[in-house]
Amino acid sequence: MAGLPYKIQNMVHFIKKLNVLIILPSYNALVNNFEYEVRKKLQINCIFVVQTAVLFVQLNNWIQASNNIMGKVISIANQKGGVGKTTTAINLGAAFAVLEYKTLIIDADPQANSTSGVGFDPKNIKTSIYECLMDEVEPKNIILNTATPNLDLLPAHIDLVGAEIEIINQPNREKLMRRVVNKIKQDYDFIVIDCSPSLGLITVNSLVASDSVLVPVQCEYFALEGLGKLLNTIKIVQSRLNPSLDIEGILLTMYDSRLRLSNQVVDEVKAHFQNMVFDTIINRNTKLGEAPSFGETIIMHDVTSSGAVNYLNLAREILQKNDLTRIKSSDKQINIEDEF
Ligand SMILES: Nc1ncnc2c1ncn2[C@@H]1O[C@H](COP(=O)(O)OP(=O)(O)O)[C@@H](O)[C@H]1O
Ligand SMILES: [Mg+2]
Repeated sequence: MAGLPYKIQNMVHFIKKLNVLIILPSYNALVNNFEYEVRKKLQINCIFVVQTAVLFVQLNNWIQASNNIMGKVISIANQKGGVGKTTTAINLGAAFAVLEYKTLIIDADPQANSTSGVGFDPKNIKTSIYECLMDEVEPKNIILNTATPNLDLLPAHIDLVGAEIEIINQPNREKLMRRVVNKIKQDYDFIVIDCSPSLGLITVNSLVASDSVLVPVQCEYFALEGLGKLLNTIKIVQSRLNPSLDIEGILLTMYDSRLRLSNQVVDEVKAHFQNMVFDTIINRNTKLGEAPSFGETIIMHDVTSSGAVNYLNLAREILQKNDLTRIKSSDKQINIEDEF
């Protein structure tokens, strides 16, 4: 390990803890065979081989992240249930954390699936995002460290259901989440907010507190249903409450290459939203479905699974996009008249 930059040594140690073998290219004849091609094509600085999965690590990103805290807030939103919001919040969060970006997941759904998904029993949560929104506790005092280094959680509790009604008469009722986030933003590179399946006040609060919104779309029947309404809500938030809210991208989830329907949905969504759609597509992967029942992120559960590789690639794509943005802001304008 000697002679490697400190950041890489840390990464290797971390993955070793997960009992995964990392082979450096210079030590492996197989990798040496295609190393030149991969380096040339992708312009990367360093390659790790994790059993079957290849993880490309951009040293530049790491070094930049270690020098300044980014504090980027991303809401994961879609008012449809079961499209992969929570799975994305947890595993994108974990992927950022493994790449050494300090990350916080805010569970903004009373169902508390993100909270249980990273290993905490919601029944044991006494103080949650609810009390933070009500300004009864400081978020710093209730943030939990997860089993993944660099990954923290601001948990949810079923009480959050009541918050929708309780905050309706408060002044600045759309800006309560932003006040909470502003108190902790400087401590994190990324804050990922897992929204509930609704376009209610808590989701609007999350959008107001965010720099961008990531929209998971399931490769299923009626994939585009309801998206017009969501994009309209985003547009209203942009025009009235948070002009700097950006669309991070539309993420296709639960893709099954064997199904014609899955491929049709990909084509349809790409035709409609063009370069707003992430290049990374999340495959349907049973490991992704079972990991939460162990209270584990996919990277802890099985780092070699396609789910882990997909979410690591998504993190890499977001990092690249934010460094050298390929989507011009003008291309991100939404036509609110769009009907689906
Ligand atoms: N890519 C995937 N492959 C297989 N199962 C998935 C995948 N993404 C999500 N799931 C499962 O689908 C269900 C709904 O996903 P979830 O992330 O909870 O959606 P949401 O938060 O939008 O309601 C969960 O049981 C989850 O484990
Ligand atoms: Mg959810």
